[in-house]
Amino acid sequence: MKLSDPRILASLPELGVERIGGASFAERTSLGIGGATDLLLIRRHSALPDLIALLRGAGVAYKFLGGGTNLLVRDDELPWVVLQLAHQEPEIRLEGNSAHVGAAADLGRTVTFCAKHDLGGMEGLIGVPGTVGGALRMNAGAYGTQIGSYVRQVELFRAAGARIETLRENEISFEYRHTSFAPDDIMLAVKLELPSKPYREILQGIRICNEKRRSSQPLNQKSAGCIFKNPPGGSAGRMIDELGLKGFSVGDARVSDRHANFFVNAGHATCADMLSLIAQVRDRVHATYGFQLENEVILWTQ
Ligand code: EPU
Repeated sequence: MKLSDPRILASLPELGVERIGGASFAERTSLGIGGATDLLLIRRHSALPDLIALLRGAGVAYKFLGGGTNLLVRDDELPWVVLQLAHQEPEIRLEGNSAHVGAAADLGRTVTFCAKHDLGGMEGLIGVPGTVGGALRMNAGAYGTQIGSYVRQVELFRAAGARIETLRENEISFEYRHTSFAPDDIMLAVKLELPSKPYREILQGIRICNEKRRSSQPLNQKSAGCIFKNPPGGSAGRMIDELGLKGFSVGDARVSDRHANFFVNAGHATCADMLSLIAQVRDRVHATYGFQLENEVILWTQ
């Protein structure tokens, strides 16, 4: 969508918002799939309420992008504009065992920055691609660690009240790949509380997780990580593997040979290819195991 409302366009500079026309989502998502639209890069968090009021007032549909690493986006021209937080300097501020982190910060870099200051706990999250905001919204996790365990406070734009609020840990619930945030809440910053640990020890944990990941996941291919959530007590990857579906493909959308819950874009996969692959694999799992797998990947396909 090309933003054309003159009132909105005129307001962007004073709000500190940069418009990137025709931004390609094939270039902005780890799957390498998606059409184009105008991207609004937000430099000041405080500008969000005014920006969103303007968009809502003009009836302009919008979505909010984190790191684009767990996202399947439709092809061709997208019917909404996309908002994204610009990086801030500094992105991380430490105070004792607390880390105040901007939502646009890279999750892996946050883990290593804290590690260098002898703050650990998040070793398992090292290879999870994406931003801290995206990790918060999904309660990202790996190797027994979930980001939610370390959250003390979150600053966010709450869509319901259309204003910026701060929530404490007891006002948020973090479950497996699910949180109590509303779908259109926008994460802005988080205060994490991390246990003290010597850097060398943290580094050892990080190395072990990196090694496990390298040996079991297709890290050098375009993917959105795991496509499905694991069923309670089970493994989606193992089920799909047991069905002999590794390598099964629709166009260039393909079930990874390395990890069956990773679906990769092996060339020029379209969104329709990927959706069809997801539906077919889900049906096969349902037919054999009687269980409907739930998407872990976020769909922007409507
Ligand atoms: N397995 C197979 N075949 C496969 C894949 C897995 O038999 O093709 C078996 C493994 O051998 C293992 C079991 O299934 O016995 C579980 O596999 P794995 O340890 O790889 O973990 P997972 O449950 O498939 C989860 C997360 C990953 C996270 C890893 C490591 C979900 C949906 N996935 O995968 O997160 O990296 O654990 O902790 O919860 C993601 O969220 O995108 C993601 C990749």
